[in-house]
Amino acid sequence: MDFISSLYYLRVVKSIQFSEYRILDITRLLCNDVTMWDYSDRVKDAFLHPKNVGEIKDADAVGEIGSIICGDALKLYLKIDRETGKITDARFQTFGCASAIASSSALTEMVKGKTLDEALTVTNQDIADVLGGLPDQKMHCSVMGREALEAAIANYRGVPVAKKEEGRVVCKCFDVTEEKIRRVAMDNHLTTVEEITNFTKAGGGCGECIPNIETILQNVWSLKPTEKPSKPKKLTNLHKIALIQEIIETEIRPGLQADNGDVELIDIDGSRVIVALRGMCTGCMMAAVTVKGIQAKLRELVSDDITVEALQ
Ligand code: FES
Repeated sequence: MDFISSLYYLRVVKSIQFSEYRILDITRLLCNDVTMWDYSDRVKDAFLHPKNVGEIKDADAVGEIGSIICGDALKLYLKIDRETGKITDARFQTFGCASAIASSSALTEMVKGKTLDEALTVTNQDIADVLGGLPDQKMHCSVMGREALEAAIANYRGVPVAKKEEGRVVCKCFDVTEEKIRRVAMDNHLTTVEEITNFTKAGGGCGECIPNIETILQNVWSLKPTEKPSKPKKLTNLHKIALIQEIIETEIRPGLQADNGDVELIDIDGSRVIVALRGMCTGCMMAAVTVKGIQAKLRELVSDDITVEALQ
């Protein structure tokens, strides 16, 4: 379907030179794709009235994802203010279906005015949400947008983005690596091959790679439970102290630090754990809740009798 639509676009709309291929600039024609899928009004509108179409000749960053051979391609251009680090302009060229055009348009609108780090917090789900959702089978368009953004920012920062997607190609029909399947599965909590196909296209061609995708999914999700530490049955005092230290370092501090807060372990007296809140946690209205949360985590993972007190 996408391929037929794309051929249709190429025949009837203005096209431009994109790498060595002739790529669709953008179309204002409503074609089969829109009538065959249950698109939201926002997707239809973004497809019919796309924003930020075209090239930025003196772009500071360019991210190029996909290939015509695999059915979709997106080239994203960014202008970046070097002093503020903010994206001042974003434009795109795409080859694909209505949802690819709508996703690209939405992405460019979402990242304008953001710093690069802020832009990197935009997920493929955010793109789909802004469009009022995408049909399951079209989620790969939002993933392509997110990947083009990553590629453009990596390009600006001089990071070899290819390294990220290195690894064994699992789906030869759509050139999808094991690393990409793992990443998309974890980012979007995907557990079935059908979902992986919707988000990456892998498995949607000859089907030869499906057993491998199943194995990857099993590995991804069977490893998950073992990552979480479980409460030991019996503890010596030394073991208990070591475990409290470890849980605070690995399970508690990263979450607080992500919100610019922190916690320092001051003392352990039997089952009494004395801590000091740091950073944004200091004097925070939610400090008592934070301490309760620390206590709950230590009770869950170390011992039921632990109490946590925070130094004032
Ligand atoms: S190798 Fe994956 S669908 Fe053909």
